[in-house]
Parts: sequence; structure tokens; C-alpha cells
Amino acid sequence: MSDKKPHIYVTRMLPNPILDRMKELFIVEINKEDKSLSQDELKRVFGKYQVVVPTVTDKIDENIINSSGNNLKLIANFGNGVDHIDLIAASKKGIHVTNTPGVLSEDTADIAMALILAVPRRIFEGEKILRNKNWDGWSPNFMLGRRVSGKKLGIVGMGRIGSAIAKRARSFGLEIHYHNRNRVADVIEKEMDAVYWESLDQMLSNMDIISINCPHTPDTYHLLSARRLNLIRQDAYIVNTSRGGVLDQEALIRLLEKKQIMGAGLDVYEKEPFIDERLLKLDNVFLLPHMSSATLEGRIEMGERVIINIRTMADGHNPPDRVISGTTI
Ligand code: 8YV
Repeated sequence: MSDKKPHIYVTRMLPNPILDRMKELFIVEINKEDKSLSQDELKRVFGKYQVVVPTVTDKIDENIINSSGNNLKLIANFGNGVDHIDLIAASKKGIHVTNTPGVLSEDTADIAMALILAVPRRIFEGEKILRNKNWDGWSPNFMLGRRVSGKKLGIVGMGRIGSAIAKRARSFGLEIHYHNRNRVADVIEKEMDAVYWESLDQMLSNMDIISINCPHTPDTYHLLSARRLNLIRQDAYIVNTSRGGVLDQEALIRLLEKKQIMGAGLDVYEKEPFIDERLLKLDNVFLLPHMSSATLEGRIEMGERVIINIRTMADGHNPPDRVISGTTI
């Protein structure tokens, strides 16, 4: 792919500055309809181009990857999570997969922190009362939530996003606890005054607020299983800005309905964009439409990472953000 411009296909409309730059550097076709491609459309694209730039809304399974012939060299994902791509099938075909790490951690942490505050303080319920013209005025017992400061926050997955949440949470007076595959460096633990729990079960049963921040991989599918969700205290809250599949949504809904958990703040769901009707009926959940990384600045930086990955590959080098089994190399 050295001296010729690579032919690339972009499955969604990205910010204009990114598309303009791509058009300068590559031969680009864009899905101008900006809707998820069907499996047949994906097969056509995978069979034709050297580089495909998909997003979380494209389900790229073994079937799609195997339809790619010999042209396709790189799947340059626009986004961090790559759970929608069959990494093993791609690796078997010698196709690189890259993501956009780092550039959306702060934005995602902002929304996670917003949910950590909004759910215990019942911000959404308050707004709804006002909008529905149901507010009779102040009273001492009106809209009592739970204090956030001084509570124990348990972070599941202390990577870039988890650490960015920990920093924010510390300044709101929360105690930081975490569970991770590997313990983080001593100096980082000290900086965040963070307590490491080797046992996820034990951490879950001791926390006031739980934030899910690990990537969704075959190993973390339903990591928060029905059994584990049952360990969470009745007066605790859970926030998920990672992927719906990391927790058993069905089990969570049952707990929320029976008030066996105090509340939840969700930005991601199993089977997006389908939202379970039962969630919509619950007052103790704050629901967002997968928007935790949605800032203009973040989207542009994500696009820049995609361009760097394609360009490096076109120049005959290994793209920097290659992923294997969900982890950036
Ligand atoms: C992205 C995300 O916007 O990067 C991720 O993993 O979940 C999102 O915030 C989305 O994936 C774009 O493809």
C-alpha cells in the first residue's frame, strides 16, 4: 500500500474537518446516509476496500470478515471499544484492527461523574417533577437523595477512563476503591488514595456506588452477573458507561423493580439502540443514549487517531493503535 493512496470506506458521517482531511489523504467513500449498514452492505464494503472505518453500530462478525477477499488490510475503528468486531477472525485473515484510545477518556469520565452525582441526588426526578408542573414548592422532606461525599466508590476496571473518574471522584470527597485484572502501580494508587480489591465479589458487597469501566471482551461478558448483582447492597447505586453487555441487564432490571438496589445511571445497554420498556418506567434510573464520549473535540481527536492509523499503515508501518483481544498493544 506504499506510494498509492489507499481506498477507504467510512461507514458513518464523521465531523467535516476529519472527512475533508481524509479526502486529501485517501480515496474515500462515505456512507452519506449516516445509518448503520446492513450485513449485505457491509459484505460489499469489506470485499472492495483496503481500509474500512466502522463504528460501534457496525456488527463485524466472522461472516463479514471472511467476505473480505485479499484487499482489506485494516479495520480502523472510530471508537475505543472493539467488541463489535470479531478480532480473532480478523487476525486469522491478517487484517489489522485499530481503535482510538486515550482521546475520549476525559469526556467519558465527565459523564460517568455526572451520573455518579445525578443518581443519588435524584436530579432527573427533580427535573421531571418541574417539567410536568407537579411542583408545589419546597418542603423539608421533598426530594431527599443521598449524600455523595464520603461514600465508597467501587470502580470496576481501572484503565484510562477508570482513573479519570477516580480523579474527579476524589475531589467530590468520595473514597476510591477498585477492582482490576492487575493492580495499578503503587504511585498511582497513592495519588488516588485508592484501595485495591482482588475479589470483585467482596468489593461489590461493600460499595455505596459502583462504576463499570472495563472493556467488553469475551472475558467480561456479564462480568456483573445476576449472582454478582445480588451482592450489591440495597442502598447502593450502579453506573455503567462501558458496554451494556458487561452487566446482566435483565437481572439489573429485576433488582431495580424490586428496589433491591437503590438506583442506576446507564449510558449503554444490551442490544442498543433497543431500550427495554421496563427501564423507561423506572424512576430510580437515569438513562442516557450512549453519549459519554460525545463532544465535538473528542470526535475530532478520534478522527485524527483513525487518520494516523491509516496513514501509518499506508506508509508501510504498523499502525500505532492495533488491538488484540480488546487490549491496545
Ligand atoms: C464511541 C464508545 O463514541 O469509543 C467507544 O468505545 O463507546 C463510544 O463512546 C463509539 O464507540 C463510536 O464508535
